[in-house]
Amino acid sequence: MAFLASRINRIKPSPSSMAGQRARELRATGRDIVALTSGEPDFDTPDHVIEAVIAAMRASRTKYTDVGGTPELKAAVRQKFQRENGLDYRASEIIVGTGGKQVIFNALMSTVQAGDEVIVPAPYWVSYPDIVMLAGGQPVFVECPADLGFKLQPADLERAISPRTRWLMLNAPSNPSGATYSHAELLALSEVLARHPHVWVITDDMYEHILYDGKRFATIASVAPALRDRTLTVNGVSKAYAMTGWRIGYAGGPEILIKAMTKLQSQSTSNPSSISQAAAQEALSGPQAFVQERTAIFQQRRDRVVALLNACPGISCHVPEGAFYAFPSCRGILGKKAPTGAVINSDNDFVLYLLEENFAVLQGAAYGMSPYFRISYAAAMDVIEEGCARLKRACERLA
Ligand SMILES: Cc1ncc(COP(=O)(O)O)c(C=O)c1O
Repeated sequence: MAFLASRINRIKPSPSSMAGQRARELRATGRDIVALTSGEPDFDTPDHVIEAVIAAMRASRTKYTDVGGTPELKAAVRQKFQRENGLDYRASEIIVGTGGKQVIFNALMSTVQAGDEVIVPAPYWVSYPDIVMLAGGQPVFVECPADLGFKLQPADLERAISPRTRWLMLNAPSNPSGATYSHAELLALSEVLARHPHVWVITDDMYEHILYDGKRFATIASVAPALRDRTLTVNGVSKAYAMTGWRIGYAGGPEILIKAMTKLQSQSTSNPSSISQAAAQEALSGPQAFVQERTAIFQQRRDRVVALLNACPGISCHVPEGAFYAFPSCRGILGKKAPTGAVINSDNDFVLYLLEENFAVLQGAAYGMSPYFRISYAAAMDVIEEGCARLKRACERLA
């Protein structure tokens, strides 16, 4: 009898952490690898957050807290939702967890049963399908092609809905494509959802602030208030505030769901780290100007990386509207031969070939769309330029 539970065989380790580990292993053997695989800002957590945490530790805010977050942090989250999204959630409609990932995990584990379906637009963040499958559900993928901006189309959403659909997962700006939805586009999706009251929405707004070209962020519960009572609005401090390691995410949603998620959390991790909560409280309620300054830096890198990618033979890159990833197509590479004679038949083959050329990126297959790859520009400009130079040389060496 196998010792491991079958549920563990339904999922795979996160490809981005595996790629990061592979790059570190190769470096340890002396190889000079440029890795553009990172899913986190290369900036530091701001000083005022660090100072607030030191003060919190000195004030003994080092004990267990309420499972779903301290009243002070919930108040800061509530104000954030009001100030930035025009959403009014009561404290009982808010949960704080150990990262946005735990919040999404709590939501799906609290609601998805065997055979239930969750609509996942592709390309998608790698964890959605695995968490759905861990919960016993079935991800239903809807391809969102590059020529439609990698965005879910209302007619495709309508077709994907079945009586077993529980959730639609929305994520904008998207990891990996950088796609984002305008107010009008969300309204069009909400009109489909209005016809299917059994379908709830998780909107993963983790990259809300990393949005370019002066675009305004919109989230579905404020665009379509009629959906508020079946929407979970997920956000966190990881990306906007460069606080990935602190592990704080949060969500606003209907009380019945938040209660269930909090119950699940009470029997798994209990409260998120007390001092990380103090950090998140300061991030959300302290000075905000640096967020825009950092986004301006990401935008310069986005412009440079897209230009460099489109100068590589066989590569074509759609312009991302937000987040810090580009998701270029490598269709023009397929069928070509590497100097070793190996033929590149897929994005997987291409990424392995690039690793031989000392450049690490992630295959689109991991994000549910081939033949693409994800390149992170959460790195200094000279690292981005060196990586793209290696990519160009590697493409030019194919026959
Ligand atoms: C789209 C998306 N959602 C959620 C997360 C999880 O963020 P965290 O758990 O650090 O809050 C990530 C992190 O990579 C992400 O890319």
